[in-house]
Amino acid sequence: MPPATSALPGLTADEIARARLPLEQAWTLPPSAYVSPDIYELEVERILRRAWIPLARLDQVPEPGDYLSLDLMGQPVMVVRGADGEVRVLSRICLHRAADLAPESGRRKLFTCPYHNWAYDTAGRLVRAPLMEGAAGFEAQDCALPRLRSEVWEGFVLANLDPEAAALTPQIETYARHLEPYRLGDMVVARTLEYESGWNWKVLVENFMEAYHHIGVHSQTFEPIHPAARSEIPDNDGPWSILHMPGVEGAEDGGPALIEGLTDAQKQALVAAVVFPHFMIAAFASGAAWYQVFPLGHDRVKLKIHLLVPKGALASPGAEEIVEGLAAMTALVHAEDIRANDLVWGGLTAPLTRQGRLSPLERSIWQMNQDWLNRMGG
Ligand code: FES
Ligand SMILES: [Fe+2]
Repeated sequence: MPPATSALPGLTADEIARARLPLEQAWTLPPSAYVSPDIYELEVERILRRAWIPLARLDQVPEPGDYLSLDLMGQPVMVVRGADGEVRVLSRICLHRAADLAPESGRRKLFTCPYHNWAYDTAGRLVRAPLMEGAAGFEAQDCALPRLRSEVWEGFVLANLDPEAAALTPQIETYARHLEPYRLGDMVVARTLEYESGWNWKVLVENFMEAYHHIGVHSQTFEPIHPAARSEIPDNDGPWSILHMPGVEGAEDGGPALIEGLTDAQKQALVAAVVFPHFMIAAFASGAAWYQVFPLGHDRVKLKIHLLVPKGALASPGAEEIVEGLAAMTALVHAEDIRANDLVWGGLTAPLTRQGRLSPLERSIWQMNQDWLNRMGG
């Protein structure tokens, strides 16, 4: 008898049932959840274009007219600080014949379309449309670039393409309490590392969110200071996971404690946090790393790792050296993760690969899988 099919192409009902079991009995998602282009297409529609996606830090657009251009799952957008000081997320596509107004980031008073010179102000209002006098009923002042729903949380600007999506901040109150000691809102981007890799985006998120792999992948780097066996993942009450990685007494890795008010235990710890689907932050004594994920296809993902430090610390002497050290450590650890993710991707695409059992140390993966199945309708 062929396996019972499910609502998700390529996933059987049995596979979904195994991923749905309680953590102690649960299995991973099946390989097709990662390697199937059809599943990716559904993810774009049901998850990635309906979720809150972090686009920028407020400190990346500090002055009126500053804007950051990026792609939000096929929608070219810009995060703009208006002349009025307000930060908006606007479509970058001209209302005339759909030219991209501002593919590069920068600072402007007006967004003048390079095609026929229609011009928009920093709030997205059309303020000039030359030679349109004979166009019956056309009123430039009635036109404005579409504005996306956005929210600011701890200095992060998040946007959502879905006008019906539930507001984010109320869903992450408990999550926010875990990160409160780190004062993310006071931080600024000090350095950005960029990568592009040939894996499904979930491979990256899963790797970020468990410390079980410290015993293998990071045996020389993280395991001695944040041992896998001591990692903890609390129950969640919303679309998020938190991974606490306590530090070993006397071992230092988070660099000098730049964040004020941390306890000794917090100074030694590393915390990884994700709001589903892929808003990822690591927090530690000297700052934080924001892993900004850009899924490019079922088998391709772009990543920007933004290193954040407290704004006050950036001006202090020695700051450059600290940021340098952070960047070097982050690049070293990420190189180890890249090797691991390459091995996983090679395995997931192999014909004999099936679901595997989860370790209780991988509660975050189980939490993400439940959320993924809920959103995908599995
Ligand atoms: S497409 Fe922008 S002015 Fe024509
Ligand atoms: Fe890792």
